[in-house]
Amino acid sequence: MRIILLGAPGAGKGTQAQFIMEKYGIPQISTGDMLRAAIKAGTPLGLEAKKVMDAGQLVSDEIIIGLVKERIAQEDCVNGFLLDGFPRTLPQADAMKDAGIKVDHVIEFDVADEVIVERMSGRRVHPGSGRVYHVVYNPPKVEGKDDVTGEELVIRADDEEATVRKRLAVYHEQTKPLVDYYSAAAEQGLNQYHKLDGTRAVAEVSDQIAGLLS
Ligand code: AP5
Ligand code: ZN
Repeated sequence: MRIILLGAPGAGKGTQAQFIMEKYGIPQISTGDMLRAAIKAGTPLGLEAKKVMDAGQLVSDEIIIGLVKERIAQEDCVNGFLLDGFPRTLPQADAMKDAGIKVDHVIEFDVADEVIVERMSGRRVHPGSGRVYHVVYNPPKVEGKDDVTGEELVIRADDEEATVRKRLAVYHEQTKPLVDYYSAAAEQGLNQYHKLDGTRAVAEVSDQIAGLLS
């Protein structure tokens, strides 16, 4: 099964990716997590990406497309994968199509901007795994610690309110056109398209996803 999660920053893609990965046994490909790993490792890509990400802008299509193609070619992706945060521009979607990479399901998370700003202020992440929490809506078992490893949770560098608002503007301008792109593709029978109410509780959103993938 090949799935794309489409939605604004903070819409819940990473949170539901965790659920889908565990339930369906397919790997999550999060371009955001890949870039954050490169930043942590201090690679040339990481150094370049950090400036762009901290400003709430998008990393260049060329770099991202290269990263994703390389990742999808790996052995664990033969039975499917879950794309989280990719594609997020029309050229990225076209590059996938041109490379003959088909998808079965595109799942859009619908969440209003103001809900997102509030969510981001309470987000905490485990950098090693990409696991996501919220201090109120999805708290870890022990405050400030990852459920699996017990390691410290951190606040993402791009979660400051001004940066979140910038990222939302970039989403509306550059990523939102993919809603029409994949809806039109669904009409041609190329993929299924599902729009979810992402403002519901985490477990309810998971139930909706399980229903539409079954
Ligand atoms: P990326 O890491 O992809 O960030 P994003 O798309 O902005 O999305 P987020 O990770 O912020 O949100 P999410 O939808 O995963 O929400 P989450 O589940 O964490 O990208 C970061 C940057 O990298 C980009 O800005 C760009 O610079 C670069 N980049 C990445 N991919 C790129 C690409 N393809 N091209 C170019 N540049 C790229 O949830 C958010 C919070 O809400 C959490 O605290 C969570 O616990 C909580 N929450 C989740 N669901 C619910 C719910 N139902 N109810 C209440 N709270 C909830
Ligand atoms: Zn995410």
